[in-house]
Amino acid sequence: MTTAYERTRQLLLSRPRNWLVTGAAGFIGSHLVETLLALGQRVAGLDNFSAAGGDNIAPFLDHPSFAFFEGDIRRADDCERACEGAEVVLHHAARASVPWSVEHPAETHENNAAGFLNILEAVRREGRGRVVYASSSAVYGDLPGLPKHEDDPLFPFLSPYALSKRMNEEHASLYASLYGVPSVGFRYFNIFGPRQDPKGPYAAVISRWMSDLKGERRVTIYGDGSNTRDFCSVADVVQANLLAGVTENSEALNQVYNIGRGEAIDLLSLAELLGRVLSRDPRPVFEPFRKGDILHSSSSIEKARRLLGFEPRVSLGEGLRELAAEKTPL
Ligand SMILES: NC(=O)c1ccc[n+]([C@@H]2O[C@H](COP(=O)([O-])OP(=O)(O)OC[C@H]3O[C@@H](n4cnc5c(N)ncnc54)[C@H](O)[C@@H]3O)[C@@H](O)[C@H]2O)c1
Repeated sequence: MTTAYERTRQLLLSRPRNWLVTGAAGFIGSHLVETLLALGQRVAGLDNFSAAGGDNIAPFLDHPSFAFFEGDIRRADDCERACEGAEVVLHHAARASVPWSVEHPAETHENNAAGFLNILEAVRREGRGRVVYASSSAVYGDLPGLPKHEDDPLFPFLSPYALSKRMNEEHASLYASLYGVPSVGFRYFNIFGPRQDPKGPYAAVISRWMSDLKGERRVTIYGDGSNTRDFCSVADVVQANLLAGVTENSEALNQVYNIGRGEAIDLLSLAELLGRVLSRDPRPVFEPFRKGDILHSSSSIEKARRLLGFEPRVSLGEGLRELAAEKTPL
């Protein structure tokens, strides 16, 4: 039986569309660009390189179907220029770190909340596009009750980042109901895969630990290692975006969805699993829990399954083995 994702890929191959990926130079954005180009789509990319260098996007810059704009979503005219002609906007530009946002609340708002409003406004003016945007599991905060379902109570007040993502959802609802701009929001859980930045205090845990273990360093766990996370491969995030970008199911639009694997693992077990994959002893060092972080996180992905046909294809073990085989900056 063919899956919804296989049908979507066939549909795209038979009728290419115009896409804009914001945050194209970032981790997730560069994977979206790569897959769309491989499927023969016409792709524009926008990024201001504030959180990423040019390495992720460099391999695609000369592709004849790719147009890259260096620009800033905080500037309305950059958004208008980039959105021109776009049928689907995959909005992933944001300052994506929770600890960074705790240090920079106003800049988080300008980039993540006001920046997204500029994108919605540009799409409204353009008058034809659909917006698929990155929210975050951070909107659930640390309220009890797992796994998280989309209609569970929210508590987006543990970090400026979480609040900015919740504001994205509210603005998307406003633009859908008031101006008819269709949108799909994704509450990503913990995404991992190649090209995720392993450096610096704000790096995501899998890329950082992969780099640490390959470099013969010990891994640092914030807390006692019992915190849980739901890790999802970036390949499955690409799947979700493509499904949302072309779905003809009107019920699937103007919704938010959890995107994870629907399975949680505690950080100590993750360190051990990663150690086994790389044949290294992780020898964890324990540091105090960080402000803004959430203790436990796991997703129900039934809504995305039901309305979009989303089905994660990469297991955690498989994803880690693939990542281990990649060249990782040490
Ligand atoms: N990676 C995850 O686990 C995860 C989890 C939840 C949500 N998200 C969301 O998914 C999206 C992509 O995340 P990522 O992990 O690829 O992050 P990333 O930092 O690798 O990519 C974000 C990109 O946005 C760009 N950017 C930031 N501010 C900008 C601005 N004002 N104008 C133009 N470009 C700007 C950065 O330069 C960067 O290239 C973000 O919105 C993030 O909040 C990611």
